[in-house]
Parts: sequence; C-alpha cells; structure tokens
Amino acid sequence: MTRALRKTTHEGQLQGSQPWLHQHGEEIQAFGTVRQFPLGLGHDARLYSCQRLNQILADSQILHALYKKHHWLMRGPTFYQLHLLLDKHAEEQDKLIDEVAERIQTLGGVAVGDPRHVAEITRVPRAPDGCEEVPAMLSRLLEAHELILIDAHDAAKRTAELGDDGTNDMIVSEVIRTNELEAWFLVEHLVDTPLVRA
Ligand SMILES: [Fe+2]
Repeated sequence: MTRALRKTTHEGQLQGSQPWLHQHGEEIQAFGTVRQFPLGLGHDARLYSCQRLNQILADSQILHALYKKHHWLMRGPTFYQLHLLLDKHAEEQDKLIDEVAERIQTLGGVAVGDPRHVAEITRVPRAPDGCEEVPAMLSRLLEAHELILIDAHDAAKRTAELGDDGTNDMIVSEVIRTNELEAWFLVEHLVDTPLVRA
C-alpha cells in the first residue's frame, strides 16, 4: 500500500484517490412514486403517466429482447434479410426504451430497469426457450407490437386528457409510429407470394 493510501484523517478515512468501495445504502425513492418537479403538471397526472409509461417500458424491453433472440435464432432461405432486419428493429426499440425511461425520470418517477422486475410487469407472453418456426417467430413479434400499440393508443388519449402533453406527444410520435412501422416490415414477410412465377 502506498504512503498516500496509508494516510488517514482523524476520523479514520482514507485520503488520496482511493475509491470508497462496497457501499450500500437505503432505497431513496420507491418504485411507483413521483417526486415533486416544477413542470406545471400536478402530482396525479405525473403519477398516472409514469404508471402507463412503465407498462410500455416493460413491454418494450421484452420486445427488444425478443428481437435479439429471434435475430440470433433466425434460419431458412431469408435468414440474412431477417437477421439484419430484426437487429435493426432491436436497435430502434433500444432507442425507444431509453426515451420512455427518461420521460419517466423527467416526470419525477422511477423507470423499471432490472430485467427481473420487467418480467413481473410485462404482459407480453413468454416465448419458448428453444427455437420456433420462422413464421411463428415473426407472428410472436407482431403480436407483441399490437399489444404495445393498443396500450399506447389508450395511454396517449388518457395522458392528454390529464394535461400531460409531453407524454402524449412522445407516445404518439415515438412509441406508436415506431411500432407501427416495424409491424409493417414484419407483416409483409408473412404474405405467401410467389417469388419467381405468378
Ligand atoms: Fe448480432
């Protein structure tokens, strides 16, 4: 140990650049609560928005994980195309997740982050641990999109009614539009159309 690390203050604390390791503390804000922020929005409106956004956040985190799973497990003649497409959608969902989480923080709430907590909240059905057939994987993703979209449409309407225009705007312009576009790119892969002869 260097001389700098051995030096201590009269309270016994290390001086110099030694980090304070293995620190533990109290939870300082409970999940499901909002702090008072000066945003011109009442407590109840912000609390409601955070609840709706945390549901969207949990479902979107599962959708992101499903995109990565199916990106890895993809197979068949369209492997390369779908492998790349699903990863692109995973990246877009990852961006969306960050925006939703930071909207919750902006409103004074606590965003769901730990995947084990996410699993408790999400309503997206669990996929089998193994690999499904390609159309089943695509259908599973589409159904997750629709579940999120139905919830997002309702959340957008209700948050607007409560005066939370920022949350309404983000849900409409980011959550709904991203999910709709990704659903389109998926659904066209489920059209049984001939490739060579009509
Ligand atoms: Fe990859």
